[in-house]
Amino acid sequence: MKRNEFFSAIGISAGMIFMAPVLSSCSKDITDPTNPGGGGNPGGGTGAVDFTLDLTSPTYAALNNNGGSIVKDNIIVARTAAGTFVALTSICSHQQYNPIAFESANNRFHCPNHGSNFGLDGAVINGPATSALKKYNVQLTGTNLRIYA
Ligand code: FES
Repeated sequence: MKRNEFFSAIGISAGMIFMAPVLSSCSKDITDPTNPGGGGNPGGGTGAVDFTLDLTSPTYAALNNNGGSIVKDNIIVARTAAGTFVALTSICSHQQYNPIAFESANNRFHCPNHGSNFGLDGAVINGPATSALKKYNVQLTGTNLRIYA
């Protein structure tokens, strides 16, 4: 029995044989473009956000001062003028500009792309954005700041 006859006998066409590897590699290539670092998923996908920042690290030194901010995994973490921590998606809800910035003087988040402003709770202060930014939970334990959904 020839190979074609064998596959035909068991109900598999030649096209199916060649499709299997293609389908397999497609499933491996699926990524969440809003989550390139793997630790955040502010775009609304299914990935869970849960990471901890070591505030003694020079990388996060900006968070040791009121008004400072950093961006990690598409999340902006800011220390407000009052010294509390806030974490929001850094992707603007208008046209996905990334990252938005924290304006310590105004205690708000600003998108430089078209000028939308957002409050500390992520709510729109002024457009053109019409949707709030997703807010994440923060928990400070000693010098470790946990950001989680
Ligand atoms: S992309 Fe942010 S205001 Fe337009």
